[in-house]
Amino acid sequence: MPTLLLTGASRGIGRELLNKYKQDGWTVIAACRDPGAVGDIGADRVLPLEVTSEDSIRALKDTLGDLPIDVLWNNAGVYLDKGMGLEETAADLWSETFAVNTIAPLRIANAFAANVADSEKKTMAFTSSRMGSIGDLGGASSAYAYRSSKTALNMAAAILANDLRPTGVKTVVLHPGWVRTDMGGPSADIDTETSAGGMKKVVDSLTDAQSGGFFNYDGKSWPW
Ligand SMILES: NC(=O)c1ccc[n+]([C@@H]2O[C@H](COP(=O)([O-])OP(=O)(O)OC[C@H]3O[C@@H](n4cnc5c(N)ncnc54)[C@H](OP(=O)(O)O)[C@@H]3O)[C@@H](O)[C@H]2O)c1
Repeated sequence: MPTLLLTGASRGIGRELLNKYKQDGWTVIAACRDPGAVGDIGADRVLPLEVTSEDSIRALKDTLGDLPIDVLWNNAGVYLDKGMGLEETAADLWSETFAVNTIAPLRIANAFAANVADSEKKTMAFTSSRMGSIGDLGGASSAYAYRSSKTALNMAAAILANDLRPTGVKTVVLHPGWVRTDMGGPSADIDTETSAGGMKKVVDSLTDAQSGGFFNYDGKSWPW
């Protein structure tokens, strides 16, 4: 059975991605900040991972060793400056946002690149956001930290796609939609099932030609 390693699996979109992969018979390794607190979320293994900690990433790598990972899905994220303008965006808030949303996914991708390259499906997915799209910026005037962290994630993931192409690993950056979660809030457009099911379909059918792309949960592509 193929294996998924998923961050941000404790709740929200990640929790539903976990369900969808389990329904398809995959082995799911859920990486969560506090495995003791999440209870039984239906994963095969729940392992600790604070995504911003190099020690924590190394410990997870030591635990998993050379295990082939078919899909590594970097999904954990924070949105700390909802509705905030530039004046309120303190440097430490900006740094924390980049640490979780931009730097961590790439450090994790680096740590597990060989595991993914050794698998059948050889895929890395990154949950980003349309809020990181400069092409779709419109009249946006807030959330400098969140938006720029996702723009930077998109760039880093695009470089990674080039870097990993010789190893056969495909990468994809995804906008999950505006989703009813703790982050998206109760007025969001879609539920986690629609979002996770749609994104999984995109990942399942990802071609070499699509690798390095930026897609909506329903398969449409986004401008960078
Ligand atoms: N919801 C939306 O409308 C929307 C729209 C666009 C993009 N997104 C993106 O979709 C992804 C998932 O969002 P969501 O709506 O499901 O958010 P959520 O319900 O707030 O869940 C966030 C997840 O990230 C984990 N996480 C945060 N910081 C972490 C850290 N330092 N180390 C380890 N795990 C950490 C959380 O773990 P804990 O339970 O331990 O806190 C939780 O599992 C994010 O990348 C987000 O930016 C969401």
